[in-house]
Amino acid sequence: MTLAVKAVKLTKKFKTFTAVNGVDFSVQSGEIFGFIGPNGAGKSTTIRMLCGILAPTSGKATVEGFDVDTQSDKIKEIIGYMSQKFSLYNDLTVAENIEFFSGIHDVPADVMAERKNEILEMSGLKGRENIITALLSGGWRQRLALGCSIIHRPKVLFLDEPTAGVDPLSRRDFWVLIRELAKNGTTVFVTTHYMDEVENCNRLALVYAGNIIAYGSPKELKEEKKTQSLEELFVNSIRSYQKNEL
Ligand SMILES: Nc1ncnc2c1ncn2[C@@H]1O[C@H](COP(=O)(O)OP(=O)(O)OP(=O)(O)O)[C@@H](O)[C@H]1O
Ligand SMILES: [Mg+2]
Repeated sequence: MTLAVKAVKLTKKFKTFTAVNGVDFSVQSGEIFGFIGPNGAGKSTTIRMLCGILAPTSGKATVEGFDVDTQSDKIKEIIGYMSQKFSLYNDLTVAENIEFFSGIHDVPADVMAERKNEILEMSGLKGRENIITALLSGGWRQRLALGCSIIHRPKVLFLDEPTAGVDPLSRRDFWVLIRELAKNGTTVFVTTHYMDEVENCNRLALVYAGNIIAYGSPKELKEEKKTQSLEELFVNSIRSYQKNEL
């Protein structure tokens, strides 16, 4: 089994505040890994460290064997990142956004047209190429952002709340795309507040106040914590952690 991501005692402090507190976890190649937890738990901070955007204060992490601190240039070539406030250009058309992100990721000009077509097909945006992005509804924008984040065929894809504020039907369609990517070998690291989505994850880590307080497959964790649903697992694990901390 090969590891796509490995974090060992990974820590991020902002002055005296510890946002990520020495977390250990690993993500296997080709799996969908859920990183879940309440607001402020440290999810986005962890993702930013794994993407090589934010230097860890201490500890270590690798993505596809590259060190996030010392080899961030290598990491940027092999990952896709859809940030929580994803950065499509609203005044560009759908096609222009795809072309722009192809340029950023150094997709060779001769393969760009083919990739653009693939992404339009995959996202269902075919026929909408010339629409100004600002005029797309939330669900379509999300699909376009996903398309732009995979234009360079990344090995590992980081999705930070990719479906926030999207209706249940669009979320379901979006997850069909994510499962398809994983089936074709892309490792997906995803954060979400929607527990129905977490059921799609092969394994998950539940983070609270910078600490991992549950880690395993949804099935294993529900059995271990004797909970019926992931929502119950989420709430009970945090409540009992809080009680022990007092
Ligand atoms: N640049 C920064 N400077 C200071 N504090 C920060 C910075 N970035 C994040 N934090 C703090 O670190 C903690 C973790 O933030 P983070 O954005 O990682 O949480 P999150 O789990 O992604 O939350 P959400 O679900 O709301 O997106 C928060 O208390 C946040 O205020
Ligand atoms: Mg966040």
